[in-house]
Amino acid sequence: MELLNLLAAMVFPMCCHFQLGCAWTVNNFLMTGPKAFLTYASSVQVGAKNGIQECKHQFMLDRWNCPESTLQLSTHNGLRSATRETSFVHAISAAGVMYTLTKNCSMGDFENCGCDDSRIGQTGGRGWIWGGCSDNVAFGQKISKQFVDALEDGHDSRAAVNLHNNEAGRLAIKATMRKTCKCHGVSGSCSIQTCWMQLADFREVGNYLKIKYEQANKLEMDKKPVRAGNSADTRGAIAHAFRNLPKTELIYLEDSPDYCTKNHSVGLQGTEGRECRKAGKSMSQWERKSCRRLCYECGLRVVEKRVEVVSSCNCKFHWCCTVKCDRCTQVVTKYYCARHETGRKPHKRAKGRHLVRRQ
Ligand SMILES: *[C@@H]1O[C@H](CO)[C@@H](O)[C@H](O)[C@H]1NC(C)=O
Ligand SMILES: *[C@@H]1O[C@H](CO)[C@@H](O)[C@H](O)[C@H]1NC(C)=O
Repeated sequence: MELLNLLAAMVFPMCCHFQLGCAWTVNNFLMTGPKAFLTYASSVQVGAKNGIQECKHQFMLDRWNCPESTLQLSTHNGLRSATRETSFVHAISAAGVMYTLTKNCSMGDFENCGCDDSRIGQTGGRGWIWGGCSDNVAFGQKISKQFVDALEDGHDSRAAVNLHNNEAGRLAIKATMRKTCKCHGVSGSCSIQTCWMQLADFREVGNYLKIKYEQANKLEMDKKPVRAGNSADTRGAIAHAFRNLPKTELIYLEDSPDYCTKNHSVGLQGTEGRECRKAGKSMSQWERKSCRRLCYECGLRVVEKRVEVVSSCNCKFHWCCTVKCDRCTQVVTKYYCARHETGRKPHKRAKGRHLVRRQ
């Protein structure tokens, strides 16, 4: 069970009942054999890790920044929540697993899987035919579903929401795929092209899902009381709530806290100590407002810190073939959220205010 526990912890740190979840996973794979399970397990792990890494990148300048502590703490029964943020975690993890498995397949890492050649030779449109190696997303989707969805062992509305978001994540992989073509014909005339469908960069999948996160829908469950313990009623209510939801959209059940304040008992880290950005030339609106969002609006101030950064510089190319560089140190200013000092030193506090206003 060691590997399985590790895997479950890796894929879905937020999921309850690891043991049960794992039992499910094993059962699914008993049909295809434990060998199949082990073949994919390491890729699943890599994929889930990539998903979480992308989550951290996407939320770098948000108050909630995809911390492991939240993910782990929400395994406590009572705290298992289905917020907008957990919807993203589910989607990006499922997507990461599907993405890695699909890539593995195209690279020939698995014996029983190769490029999607179902349309090879068919005319795709004017001047082009299907050819090359189309990424086999159907394979990635299937195996990702078997591994990731099996970790969800509940049968309540939360479980239904999580499974829906897993699927939305997998559909994001399909939605971001693009057609890539190669020219043929006399002396590169490109009179005929062969084309195939290729996975986008995973960053693009992350960007796509971040937008879905911003547009996520709150699921309004039927308020009519469900008779306790009647699972047919529960299923009916869930099916009813889900009936018009597009599969591509993220959904959540509970409103999020503001994520400003630290509360260890519910796994909230708060924004104190977080870095924000100021006044760069090529900064987006989102970056430019990061100090306001993370610090000021959370009742914190911004402090400057001078930090020494070491980098390579003055690199010279030596014939042949080495590059020699100097090590240069540069002092850069970084900005962090900090608590206001308590009233005892008013002049210092005023200075702090002055400092933060300067752009
Ligand atoms: C699948 O790809 C990942 C990297 O993308 C790699 O780490 C892993 O070893 C591959 N799996 C197999 C079975 O080759
Ligand atoms: C932390 O959250 C719990 C549950 O919402 C609440 O009861 C408690 O008062 C909070 N603690 C602090 C320090 O805010």
